[in-house]
This record gives sequence, structure tokens and C-alpha cells, in this order.
Amino acid sequence: MEINKAPCDREQFNHFGKSSTECISPADCRPGNGHFLAEVLEGLRKPQKELPPKYFYDDRGAQLFEDICTMDEYYIPLTEASIIDDHIVEMVELLGEDVLLVEYGCGDCAKTRILLNHLRQPAGFVPIDISFEQLQRVSVALTGEYPGLEVLPVCADYTCDFELPAPCRPPARKVVFFPGSTLGNFDPLPAQLFLKEAGRVCGPGGALLLGIDLAKDPGVLHKAYNDSNGITAEFNLNLLKRINLELDANFKLEQFQHYAFYNLAANRMEMHLVSLREQRVYVGGLVFDFAQGESIWTESSYKYTLAGFEKLATSAGFGVDRVWTDERQWFSVHYLVKDGCKRGAASRRG
Ligand SMILES: C[S@@+](CC[C@H](N)C(=O)[O-])C[C@H]1O[C@@H](n2cnc3c(N)ncnc32)[C@H](O)[C@@H]1O
Repeated sequence: MEINKAPCDREQFNHFGKSSTECISPADCRPGNGHFLAEVLEGLRKPQKELPPKYFYDDRGAQLFEDICTMDEYYIPLTEASIIDDHIVEMVELLGEDVLLVEYGCGDCAKTRILLNHLRQPAGFVPIDISFEQLQRVSVALTGEYPGLEVLPVCADYTCDFELPAPCRPPARKVVFFPGSTLGNFDPLPAQLFLKEAGRVCGPGGALLLGIDLAKDPGVLHKAYNDSNGITAEFNLNLLKRINLELDANFKLEQFQHYAFYNLAANRMEMHLVSLREQRVYVGGLVFDFAQGESIWTESSYKYTLAGFEKLATSAGFGVDRVWTDERQWFSVHYLVKDGCKRGAASRRG
């Protein structure tokens, strides 16, 4: 996966709606269907067929991801939330007053609320997500829950260029919040580019607060991505359903199967959709042949060591100012500042 810095194919523009809970509407910088089709065709033409994971999240996909987050096997949301809960005082102290919080891939903002409950006079909150309906719902909800908070939602592909809205009250600084280990969906080089771009968005004095999943027993990982209720499988297959609906394709869902495994050499979980038989599929008027057992690679989730993530952050021009982990060392939350701007004398491990 590569970060595409070309301007997105914007089909619609919208104003930054914020006047009331009824009419709040995300600025619409979504990639259009032409962009979606081009990326799908590009992925399916590769020798190892692949599809970008960002397209999981149509409204149904976003709902399925919320369901995944309620399952014990998928340890990430609860573990990350408990780390934030346990260290909220220190985090809020670091973020300071009048901060503009910018969240990439905000989803349902479950963990954001822990921060918002404690932040001191935030200048505003910019939730960014590619999933329009969910973003709209969550923005309306947040505006109701935090009446004094300026919420400026942007529906965009965060790997493309888009305009960051400015809050009415000038912020003291910008902090990018990127929880859920979504950075783990990027291969190492795009991850480095993404961090650099996030650093540019923060500007001088800004910082990043990032959730990063840690390497652990592959058995735990296997269960997390192969839940007993089959919700992750449904989430994975929903991508083909979405392509059928939006791109004039004819994937037969019953002829593909969810397959997720830990690739030890590459330190990542991989999700695939495996063709159960030899078959031919049409997408956007083009033909794609599948052998029996051939897969479409739909997602990577890199698992880091603390040292490995620090190396990545450093290569992107950041210093790790704080790291907090849970007792089992399954997950980590990192506070990154531009190199040379560390607040504390030394990094501390929580
Ligand atoms: C793994 S979920 C995490 C959601 C939430 N941050 C959490 O921690 O529970 C990834 C989120 O990022 C969004 N997303 C994925 N790729 C994106 C992209 N390229 N641009 C914008 N949003 C994206 C998805 O719609 C989804 O809400």
C-alpha cells in the first residue's frame, strides 16, 4: 500500500456544518467512485490480488467493525481504553489547554470520549473518517454530548490531500490522535510517510497520540481475527458485497472464504479472501480469473515491539516522549513529539 498524495477525486464538496446538532454535516472530501474503481482494478491486477482495507468501511462495514469491538477475542479496544483510562491525567496534562484534537479514522469515537471527558477547554475536535454515515452519526452525538465543543468533521481518505478545518477559537497546539492500531494497516514505508505527514499537519509544537498493537502469542492474535461468531469473516466478505453494489461486479460471496493468519517473518496478521473454486468474476466490465485456493489480500495488521515502533517513529522525525502499556504488554499508547521537542527528560514506560 502506498500513500497517495495526489489530490483526491472529490465528487462533492460541502461546508463545514456546525450550527446545530440537527444539521451538522461532515465536510465531504470522500474519494469518488472513479477512485474506488481504479484502486480495486489496480489491486486485482496484481499477481497477489489485493484490495485496500480502507474500503471495508461502508455503513455496513463500519457497523460490523463496531460489533467486532464488542467481542472479548478482539482485545484491542478494551485494552487500549483501559490504558487511556489509567493514564488520563498524565495524557491530558501533556495535551494541555486549548488543544485542537484531530483524530484520523475516528470510527465511533469510543476512546475519544475518554479524552474529551477530561480535556481542558479544547479549541475543537476534528474527527476524520472515510465512512460518511458513521461519521455523521458520531458528530451529531458528540455535539449533543459536549455542548461547548466545536466539532468539525471531515469525511476524507486520510492518505489523500484534504483541507483541515480551522476552529473559531485559535488553538494553542494541534495533537493528532490515531488509536486502534490503525497505523498497523500500513506497510512500513507508507507508515513512515504517514507519520511524517501527520507531523506536518500538527505543525510546530504539535504532537501525536497513537495506539499501537504489540507482538504477542500468535494464538491470541489468531483468535482475535477469527472470532467464534464469524463477525470478522462477515466484515471481510462485506468488502466483496460492497464492490458488487457500488462497482457493477458479480463476486459470489459463498465462493470466497475468510482466512486470517499470523505471518511471523513479517510481524503481521494478514486477512485474505480465498477463492473456494476456479471462477471468473467481472468488475467494472473487466474479467478476473481465480484459481481454486487463490486469495485476495485484504488487510495487514503489523504488530510491533516497543523498540521496533520507536525506530519507526524516529525514522519519521519523532521522539517518543511517553509510552504507556497494559500489564500484559499487549498494547501500547505512544505520545510522539518532533525530535528535539521532548518535554520530559527521558521517556517513561508506563
Ligand atoms: C480499525 S478502525 C478504528 C476505529 C477507531 N479509531 C477505533 O480505534 O476503534 C479504522 C477506522 O479508520 C477509518 N479509515 C480506514 N482507512 C481510512 C482512510 N484511508 N481514510 C480515512 N479513514 C479511514 C475506518 O473507516 C475506521 O473507522
